[in-house]
Amino acid sequence: MTRYSRIIGTGGYLPEEIRTNEQISQTVDTSDSWIFERTGIKSRRIAGPNETASSMAEIAARQAIEAAACDPEDIDLIIVATGTPDRVYPSTGCLLQQRLGIKNCVAFDVQAACSGSIFALSIADQYIKSGAAKKILIVGTEICSRIVDWTDRSTCILFGDGAGAVLLGVSEETGILSTHIHSDGEYEDMLYCPNPQVATEANKDEASYISMRGNEVFKVAVNTLGRIVDETLEANNLEKSDIDWLVPHQANIRIIVATAKKLKMSMDQVVVTLETQGNTSSASVLLAFNEAVRDCRIQRGQVVLLEAFGAGFTWGSALIKY
Ligand code: COA
Repeated sequence: MTRYSRIIGTGGYLPEEIRTNEQISQTVDTSDSWIFERTGIKSRRIAGPNETASSMAEIAARQAIEAAACDPEDIDLIIVATGTPDRVYPSTGCLLQQRLGIKNCVAFDVQAACSGSIFALSIADQYIKSGAAKKILIVGTEICSRIVDWTDRSTCILFGDGAGAVLLGVSEETGILSTHIHSDGEYEDMLYCPNPQVATEANKDEASYISMRGNEVFKVAVNTLGRIVDETLEANNLEKSDIDWLVPHQANIRIIVATAKKLKMSMDQVVVTLETQGNTSSASVLLAFNEAVRDCRIQRGQVVLLEAFGAGFTWGSALIKY
């Protein structure tokens, strides 16, 4: 029997506070029209003072577990993708395991910046295909607002907070068709966030915020996403027209439009949450996927391409027959 990983439940959580472009333009020299035209973002959600990556993950995870009508004790493995963990250790995966009260499973984190949820899907797919696990919970969860310098107009306009989740089960029918992940550390200084607690003498004075050369990141992103689309279609012997939905990482509407164009897809086939959520890093693809499943845009049997890129650089895709 061929074993496929199938998405059997989805969930998502967005914090209550909405921070609009107008609000940001009261504290830094920018405007709603500049931000919207260059990025497609109008507002983003900001986590409350008592929220953490694991508290948001718990809400998204519970939704996914409920949607799948799954007994939490049946979950073999929890993989959390985050670049903003509650603690250096234990992993946010372990903290989530504790919150969900699951005793007998393995839990760990994946750190691949904004590509984290695609990396997690890729790892989970190998575990299910090999028979090492039957039910895997994947959560992408981020509190980007705490690593953003709110006085830096080139980065603070982009990011938001939230958590997205999927629960994977085993299926004899198709589910995840293929995953493709890549890394290239050559670009490490184009987009990074220092960890001041483990700084060396040389970088101890670096501010502990996201640092980015946006324009250069933009170009590499368009390039790498173009290549991953070709790679994914080729690996599955599919044509562009076989894809029903594109669920892209939500970084910039112009990057999303470029990928849709490459796929010759109408924007009606692209799930966009960017306008009201900004870039929620590793949560963004799963949040968008959850939204489109819950509002019934994505239907069972349809072919969905998920893709992301992020610091590292890292980039990847997952092709799914939902
Ligand atoms: N409001 C107004 N002006 C701003 C601004 C803001 N929020 N941020 C930057 N600017 C200014 C710059 O200072 C610069 O001014 P100058 O020409 O006088 O030097 C000018 O706008 C152009 O800056 P540039 O960085 O070239 O703009 P851009 O068109 O590339 O847009 C980003 C900037 C960040 C929106 C864009 O590069 C981007 O989205 N990059 C990808 C980032 C990304 O996706 N990161 C996450 C990866 S997971």
